[in-house]
Amino acid sequence: MSVAATAPIAAALGTRQNGASVTVLETHDLTKRFKQLTAVDHLDLNVRSGEVLGFLGPNGAGKSTTVGMILGLIRPTSGTVRLFGKDPLTQHEIVSKSVGAIIENPAFYPYLSGRDNLLAHAKMLGGVPKGRLDELLTLVGLRDRAKDKFKTYSLGMKQRLGIASTLLNDPALVILDEPTNGLDPAGQREIREIIPNLADQGHAVLLASHMLHEVEQVCDRVAIVRKGKLIEEGEVQEMLRRGEHLEVTIPDADLRQAAALVEQVPGVSQVTVENGRLRIAAPERAGADINRQLATHGLFAGSITPRHNSLEEFFLELTEGETSS
Ligand SMILES: Nc1ncnc2c1ncn2[C@@H]1O[C@H](COP(=O)(O)OP(=O)(O)OP(=O)(O)O)[C@@H](O)[C@H]1O
Ligand SMILES: [Mg+2]
Repeated sequence: MSVAATAPIAAALGTRQNGASVTVLETHDLTKRFKQLTAVDHLDLNVRSGEVLGFLGPNGAGKSTTVGMILGLIRPTSGTVRLFGKDPLTQHEIVSKSVGAIIENPAFYPYLSGRDNLLAHAKMLGGVPKGRLDELLTLVGLRDRAKDKFKTYSLGMKQRLGIASTLLNDPALVILDEPTNGLDPAGQREIREIIPNLADQGHAVLLASHMLHEVEQVCDRVAIVRKGKLIEEGEVQEMLRRGEHLEVTIPDADLRQAAALVEQVPGVSQVTVENGRLRIAAPERAGADINRQLATHGLFAGSITPRHNSLEEFFLELTEGETSS
């Protein structure tokens, strides 16, 4: 599904289509302490128009506290938040003008239709162009159910209407804090499908989540936090490539001897013996050379399997020993 970017956002920000993008949100050294507890610890983040940044961390990592500071609702202990260069705490109008966020369940009337509820919100906001409602209902996949009463909606549909309502004034930054919480897998997927469309329209999207596959599926970049600290940041695809390795089984062989041989093969950066097989950090194309090296020395591989660490495994490694709070 693709909906044309509305004029203001396309003009102000540039979209993926024309390649231009600008920094919408920047935090620098952002820190929040609650008494002894440092909930957010010298955090540097930035989000650009047209991209989805996954803000990933286990429960209690400091994601919602960070969102609160971005919205100017929580005062940082130190460090800065800038929305288009402005401080949301002292220049609060920048938040109402350029950020759409669901921080709690938005208020909808049960006996009004989804469309009439959106209309009511639009009237409160003022200045929402006429065509915007139907455009948004299409974007969140509610066009066919728009005339049905809100009370007949599933939880996922209610959530999607909530997202539509935050988009009414075409905010440059959309913040989704655990948007799929409490939804069944189908409902989660419906929300997830919307997210890339938001970025395609030129919105900058900050998706706070503890669900790794969610981030893996819809984000361009990911910032991983633990105990308030940024522990890893980068492009999702690049992080996945980092986990590329080969698994080799060699029946009836001395695996230590085999590992020493494989280490000499160009492109191989590390070899370990795990669960009766070799785990070789190397790109997939090194497989043939590894096979040849082993065979030359009278060792014959039973299988050579390329594997990817999912972001999930990567995340679990990083947060090992973490207890949720
Ligand atoms: N107002 C507060 N007073 C004291 N401690 C707080 C306050 N708000 C948050 N905390 C603590 O700060 C830490 C970070 O909480 P936060 O809600 O930001 O985490 P989160 O990453 O959003 O977690 P979750 O995935 O569970 O939503 C937690 O240890 C939490 O208990
Ligand atoms: Mg939270």
